[in-house]
Amino acid sequence: MPDAFPAAAALPATPPQAQAFPIDAVRAAFPAVTRAEPLVLFDNAAGAQVPKPVFEAVNAHLLERNVQRGGRYAMSQEVDAMVAAARVRVAAFLNATDPDEVCFGMNATSFIRLISLALGQTLAGSPRRRIVLTEIDHEANIAAWLALEAQGAEIVWWRLREDGRLHLEDLAPLLDARTRLVACAAASNALGSVTDLAGVARLAHAVGAELFVDAVHYAPHAVVDVQAWDCDYLVCSGYKIFGPHMGFLWGRRAALEALPTFREDFIPDTPPFKVEAGTFIYENVAGMAAALDYLADLGTRISPGAADPLRAAMEAIAAYERGLSMRMLDALTSVEARVFGVTDPGELDARLPTFGFTLPWAEPARFVEAMATAGFALRDGHMYAPRLIARLGLAFEAGLIRASLCHYNSPDEIDRFAEVLRRMHRG
Ligand SMILES: Cc1ncc(COP(=O)(O)O)c(C=O)c1O
Repeated sequence: MPDAFPAAAALPATPPQAQAFPIDAVRAAFPAVTRAEPLVLFDNAAGAQVPKPVFEAVNAHLLERNVQRGGRYAMSQEVDAMVAAARVRVAAFLNATDPDEVCFGMNATSFIRLISLALGQTLAGSPRRRIVLTEIDHEANIAAWLALEAQGAEIVWWRLREDGRLHLEDLAPLLDARTRLVACAAASNALGSVTDLAGVARLAHAVGAELFVDAVHYAPHAVVDVQAWDCDYLVCSGYKIFGPHMGFLWGRRAALEALPTFREDFIPDTPPFKVEAGTFIYENVAGMAAALDYLADLGTRISPGAADPLRAAMEAIAAYERGLSMRMLDALTSVEARVFGVTDPGELDARLPTFGFTLPWAEPARFVEAMATAGFALRDGHMYAPRLIARLGLAFEAGLIRASLCHYNSPDEIDRFAEVLRRMHRG
């Protein structure tokens, strides 16, 4: 008699289980991370290392097809295909439905400026001229919008609370029919605080405004989902997401189409072309796609059979990094550090493993110097968030100390850091 459920016989006895986070394999995938040992890289918010396939993809592009796209010959068509495939990869990373909503360029700052220049052209005579900016943002997502005051923009500030976070209750009263845009970070690059973007979009859209998200700091750490967040524009830097120096912008097709074009030539006035100002760096786009492939491979390794390996990777990274955060908070609180942002272990999903702190017993610059000598790469200063530094009551010149971790950092590195920290604290 034929089996009524033939497919069932092929199933393993138990469904594939999610594997523990493979930290040793992850570290081994990043040549610079292992080469740097025993140096501990806690400066990842400034730029992350790349896995080897990224180098190979950049290399292959330069050595095998470094020609202009759009030609009628096979080598040029290979470049077209590579760029198209990279748009598909980035769209999957962002959970965007349309790869043509993905635009490639130099970096996040130039994209923010590009969109602000376009949006600025729509302000004259419009009843919607208000732009909401936040106190947690990197200056890149502030200065470009402040520049629009010359075109009649009216800037409104969404203030930070004592807890180092933005609260939706403070945003709601700032919004009305005069609001054109809310420009906001998905997470603070100085404190690691995460913004409730779906909540921001709900409030902004309720008054007919748009949401521009700076996901530069957030994107290497957790799932980015432009559909769930319901934002209108989102920008990332490839070099923070384990790729080369490049940036990408996603924009809702209707939003991009509605913006005035930058180009007065014969280039199609449709996304993504209207936003891509000239030739971008193709080899770095190839490298970015390879970085996302690395993440998808990690997702498959951790969750065999996952329908969306990229999402599986970012969920696993977020969970792993919450463990790192817990350990790091323990280390910092044991030496009287003043840690800004979320410190409650029950609220770790509201922070990334980026720690902005000060020490009552050491100046930021001297401490970071001493740590460099001891084999730990950290950073001190304003983190290009000078308004946030002022709001925290810190001096611009001194700023704060930042330890920014990512998924290739290990619990052991934190333990070694904690040991040195305690030794320095004891004097
Ligand atoms: C949150 C945030 N936004 C924007 C930027 C600027 O990015 P880019 O260097 O790609 O212009 C940075 C860079 O550190 C950042 O951390």
